[in-house]
Amino acid sequence: MSNIPWWKTSVIYQIYPRSFQDTNGDGIGDLRGIIDRIDYLQWLGIGAIWISPIYPSPMVDFGYDVADYTDINTIFGSMADFDELLLQAHQRNIKVIMDFVPNHTSDCHPWFVESRRATSSPKRDWYIWKDAKPDGSPPNNWRSVFGGSGWEWDAPTRQFYFHAFHKAQPDLNWRNNDVQEAMFNVMRFWLDRGVDGFRVDVMWHIIKDELFRDNPPNPEYKESQPPYDQLLPVYSTDQPEVHDIVAQMRQIADGYGDRVIIGEVYLPIQKLMEYYGPNNEGAHMPFNFLMLRLPWHAPEIAAAIDQYEGALPTEGWPNWVLSNHDNPRIASRVGEAQARIAAMLLLTLRGTPTIYYGDEIGMRDVAIPLEEQQDPQGLNMPEKNLSRDPCRTPMQWSADEYAGFSKVQPWLRVDKKYPRINVQQQQNDAYSMLTLYRKLVQLRNDEPALNHGTYTPVYSNDQFIAYRRDAPGADSFFIMLNLTSRPCRYSQPPSDTLKGQVIIATAPEAEGMDIEKDIYLNGDEGIVIRLTAP
Ligand code: GLC
Repeated sequence: MSNIPWWKTSVIYQIYPRSFQDTNGDGIGDLRGIIDRIDYLQWLGIGAIWISPIYPSPMVDFGYDVADYTDINTIFGSMADFDELLLQAHQRNIKVIMDFVPNHTSDCHPWFVESRRATSSPKRDWYIWKDAKPDGSPPNNWRSVFGGSGWEWDAPTRQFYFHAFHKAQPDLNWRNNDVQEAMFNVMRFWLDRGVDGFRVDVMWHIIKDELFRDNPPNPEYKESQPPYDQLLPVYSTDQPEVHDIVAQMRQIADGYGDRVIIGEVYLPIQKLMEYYGPNNEGAHMPFNFLMLRLPWHAPEIAAAIDQYEGALPTEGWPNWVLSNHDNPRIASRVGEAQARIAAMLLLTLRGTPTIYYGDEIGMRDVAIPLEEQQDPQGLNMPEKNLSRDPCRTPMQWSADEYAGFSKVQPWLRVDKKYPRINVQQQQNDAYSMLTLYRKLVQLRNDEPALNHGTYTPVYSNDQFIAYRRDAPGADSFFIMLNLTSRPCRYSQPPSDTLKGQVIIATAPEAEGMDIEKDIYLNGDEGIVIRLTAP
């Protein structure tokens, strides 16, 4: 297995650092907190952590507004803490993936402060500045993802600047070579320090139409959608030139050997695949967000897996995501019972799984009263229920006050259910979500068929999906998942009956059961069968 890169065989765990573990008593998580919990991650079997941004930042978008790319925010600790975390992680064979935010900086970044100073500033062209139209309106109709126009008027210099997100997050001009070089140097800075790769923020936004043409209206827009969706962002995102930039990022990472570039890309499958680059010289893995959006129905899920597998370029390595810090948690979308099925799916499909912190104990979105809300996306459009705060609440470690996350009132409220939904309680419970996750992660780590073998769909209908995983010279596995709450049956074809034993089941009572003909599952049940060699 040694010739297979770690990012293919490892399970990635996303840490939202503000909410993972507070050690200095300010109610906000920190790097020392991650260090303190690294043994837990090792126990779980995690191979890599991706940490959401920890750079100096005014925190308008909770760190995705970077004011200095090569330092650590004092809220989270110091560079010495970071080096210590890297060391402790590496000693446990856990890789560390940084969050790289190349599309925009904070408006407090010295580059923007300088750029804003005067139209004649040597850094003016580092950002996207444009004159108003003759009637004083913005240069085009592009919108901000966080609501309203994407253009902000700068009265002193009498021009607009573009921001795809918050107005405190001005977009960099990636058509400027000095910007490219400065950002590539940021990557080198962290790679030199020893990080194992980057999750690249909004990769598909990085470069814009050179002519700044208006985006067309979206004929399918519905009132319930975010206002951003009123237009199709065909000129403000996913431009052909982006692939050249991604390829350069890849080259830099590859220059260090054994590092990874993961792209955040929300696009339909065919478009997404382009981010692997021609000849697989783009991102190692553009994130696959299919499961974040699909209705939880067996036929849709089965079809999406096949479409994704079928569309992958040769050599393109798949990956799967169930939740992240921008979307509702899996347990909130599909319910507790199906969240167990989702875990089994995530960890037995072909491709690198990313677990969002807390999903392994079945954490759910927490209702945050309006007066406690902090996410700018939610605050800018209060009537649309778009706040991302609910999925960012503090990790529930124990039944202690504030769930063992902090000794003081945390920055965001803790789920009131923490006294019964927490790591400590679940570690000692054979039936818990955490025990299920751990068994699945360990099996995946140990079994070649699961961590790099082939995927073959076997059967699916309105209720369940079944597939197998095989690798030469290793045990094969058959996975059957009931995506409904009613019992179901798989009648094996007599000509091709598989035999084996259930080794992991969402209802552990089924573990050890021999399978030799029809397979019956209760509602919300899933099983992993180790096949007996024919
Ligand atoms: C990405 C991040 C999100 C952030 C946005 C702007 O989508 O995941 O949290 O708000 O980029 O940086």
